[in-house]
This record gives sequence, structure tokens and C-alpha cells, in this order.
Amino acid sequence: MRIESPRIVSALPGLGVELRHGAALSELTSLGIGGITDLLRIKKHEAIPDLLNLLDANGIAHKFLGGGSNLLVGDGELPWVMLQLVRREPDVVLEGNFARVDAAADLGRTVTFCAKNDLGGMEGLIGVPGTVGGALRMNAGAYGMQIGSYVREVKVYRAAGCKIETLRGNQISFEYRHTSFAPDDMMLAVTLELPSKPFDEILQGIRICNEKRRSSQPLGQKSAGCIFKNPPGASAGRMIDELGLKGHSVGDARVSDRHANFFVNAGKACAKDMLALIADVRERVRKAYEVDLENEVIVWSV
Ligand code: EPU
Repeated sequence: MRIESPRIVSALPGLGVELRHGAALSELTSLGIGGITDLLRIKKHEAIPDLLNLLDANGIAHKFLGGGSNLLVGDGELPWVMLQLVRREPDVVLEGNFARVDAAADLGRTVTFCAKNDLGGMEGLIGVPGTVGGALRMNAGAYGMQIGSYVREVKVYRAAGCKIETLRGNQISFEYRHTSFAPDDMMLAVTLELPSKPFDEILQGIRICNEKRRSSQPLGQKSAGCIFKNPPGASAGRMIDELGLKGHSVGDARVSDRHANFFVNAGKACAKDMLALIADVRERVRKAYEVDLENEVIVWSV
């Protein structure tokens, strides 16, 4: 979708919004897949309600883009503009055991920065790509921990009331790769309460998680992490592997040889290929195991 109205274009700088015409989502997502649309980069949280009123009043559909690391976007001209927060500086402020983090902060850098200040707990998340906001929205987790356990406060734009609110951690439910936020709520900032630990101890945990990840996941390849959620008591990766589907492909969309729940873009895969591969694998798992795998990856198909 293109923003062409001069009235809207001229209102954007006053709202602290930078307009990038014709952004390619294939360059903004870790899968390297996705079509073209206008991108609005937001510098001031406070201006979000006015910006969204302006877009709604002019019939411009929108979606919030985080780090693009758990996302499969459709091909071609996209029917929504993308909204993305510009990272604030400093993006992490520490006060005792509390870390106040901008939603646009890089997750890995945040974990490392906290570690250097003797704040641990998030070692498992090292190597998970994306922003802190994205990790929060999905309740990212690995190696027995999840980010939701450390959340004490969240600043969020709530689409329902068209306003910015601050929620306490206990007002939000965090489940396996799911939170109680509405799909069009936009994470703005979070306060984490992290346990004190000596840096060396945290570093050791980080090294162990890094090593486990390196040995079992296709880190250098274009992917969106795990495609499916694990069904209760089972592993989607193991089931797909047991069906002999490693290397199975549709065009350049391929089941990773290293971890069968990672689907990689091995060249010039488009969304159509990746969606066909997902549907095919889901169907094979359903037939073999009578289990309907649920997507973990967020899909914005056109
Ligand atoms: N396995 C196979 N073949 C495979 C992949 C896995 O046999 O191709 C087996 C493993 O040997 C292991 C079991 O399946 O016995 C579980 O595998 P793994 O330890 O890799 O964990 P996972 O359940 O596949 C989950 C998360 C990952 C997270 C890891 C580590 C989900 C969907 N996935 O994977 O998160 O990194 O545990 O804690 O919950 C993500 O969220 O995108 C993600 C990658």
C-alpha cells in the first residue's frame, strides 16, 4: 500500500514519523521473504494514537513490524503499510534489579548488556533473533526459561482503546509462545526484574546455550526459527524428522537438514512456496500422527 495523499505525507514529520516508500519486506524479515509496501518509522511513542487516527480516517490499513524474525509475509504489493518503532537511546536503563527496555531494543544485545551488569535469568534467549518487543509479544523462551517470567511492567499501545497504557506484569498472562495481548496491540517498552548473578556465571550459561543452539539449529540460514509450536508433550521437530522430511522442499523453501522444525529460504523462496511447504508438512504430520500442528510463525498472507 502506498501513502500518496499530500495531506497525510505532510502531517507525518510533525508526528515524528519517517516515511520510507516502497520498503521490501524481504529485506526486513529473517526469512528474506515478503512483498513491498510503505514503511512508517515511529520516533515518538506519544504520537502513535494520532498517527493511527490519521491512518484509520483515511482507510490506510497497517500492521506493526518488530524485528521481523518470526514472520512470514505475503508476496507482491502488500495491502497494509508497516509501522515500526525507531529504537530509543539508551535502549536499556538499569536500576537495581530492574531493566527498563525499549521494545525496539535488540534481544541478544539486551541479554548481554544485562549480563555485563550482573543481571541474569535470560541466558536461554541468547541467539534468539529479533527485538525485545517481539520476544515479549510471543513470550519467547528456550532451554527451560521464558521472558514472561521476568516481566514486571509493560508500556503498550492498545488498539482497542486507541491509547497508550502501562500494565503490571500480573495483568498479563504468559503461556507457551502466547500472551494475552490483542493481535494489534503494540509493545512500546518493558520493565524486567532480573536475578543478580556474577557475570562469569551468566557467561557460562550463555556459552552452554549458544553451543546447544549451534549444534542443533541452522543458525547461518534464512529462517523464522521454529515454524510450528510443539504440541503438548511432543516435539514438532522430532515428528517431522521421523517422517524423513529433512531436506523436503517446495521451490527454495526447504525443511532444514539440521532441525526439522526450521524451514529455511535456501535461495529465492517466495511466500507461496513457504506456505505450500507448511501446508504439506502439516498434512503429512496430521495423517501420520493425527496431530494438527499450530503455526508458531506469524503469517501475514495477502
Ligand atoms: N529433534 C529431532 N529432530 C529434529 C529436531 C529435534 O529428533 O530435527 C529432537 C531432539 O533431538 C530433541 C527433541 O526433538 O530430543 C526436541 O528438540 P530441541 O531440543 O531442538 O527443541 P525443540 O522442542 O525442537 C524448542 C523451541 C525452540 C528452542 C528450543 C531450545 C518450540 C517450537 N521450539 O525446540 O524455540 O530454541 O526448544 O529450548 O518451542 C523458536 O521458538 O522459534 C525456537 C526455535
